[in-house]
Amino acid sequence: MNKKNHYILIGIYLFMALVAGNAYGKDSDELTNPMKSSEKAPFTLPALPYDAKALEPNISEKTLNLHHDKHQQAYVTKLNELVKGTELESKTLEEIIMATAKDESKQGIFNNAAQFWNHTFYWNSMKSGGGGKPLGKLAAQIDKDFGSYDKFKEQFKQTGVTQFGSGWAWLVLDKDKLKIIKTSNADLPMVHGQRALLVIDVWEHAYYLDYQNRRPDYITIFLDQLVNWSFAESNFNMKLF
Ligand SMILES: [Fe+2]
Repeated sequence: MNKKNHYILIGIYLFMALVAGNAYGKDSDELTNPMKSSEKAPFTLPALPYDAKALEPNISEKTLNLHHDKHQQAYVTKLNELVKGTELESKTLEEIIMATAKDESKQGIFNNAAQFWNHTFYWNSMKSGGGGKPLGKLAAQIDKDFGSYDKFKEQFKQTGVTQFGSGWAWLVLDKDKLKIIKTSNADLPMVHGQRALLVIDVWEHAYYLDYQNRRPDYITIFLDQLVNWSFAESNFNMKLF
């Protein structure tokens, strides 16, 4: 290739990159990070990151459709109603969560905003053909902080099983150390200064159609068949909040 053609190709590539970024109204970080968004109210529910049948037989299409199209959509609709005409309209989802977390008078807004965020994080925490042991730097950190992958797995399962009532079990980075935590209702790590790496929804609506009251079986399947370790690894390597 001569020098002139080489520069023409570079020009075409740069133009296409610019068009792609502008087309979605997102910066390059947003295009690679599903949890980073500059969107403001009225918010729209993003599509699932895979087909609703993709996680079968471990999580049924019926569960995913209800969970995403009805439950998560209801949080988004309610959030839009609650922030309409308030100063929160000019804030991103993460900013709304942080601004309302410690304010009892805004608990309804916090609950709907956090549940919107938590569910998007949960969809991305799973993938078809996932589960098993992680690889790379996160695997080494799990060995360092929990002793072994098997010890991590046991602690994660125990945490999810013992979350009383509705809530979430998370793998988080707390300063430089990995921890497994549970949160009730809509509560989430970012308001406690922790970075979320991975989550499982242990609200009954997440598993009851497929597992009835067998929450331990649902968590075991999540760990063995569904965990999206590349999502957790990318969260481990970047700052989300
Ligand atoms: Fe849920």
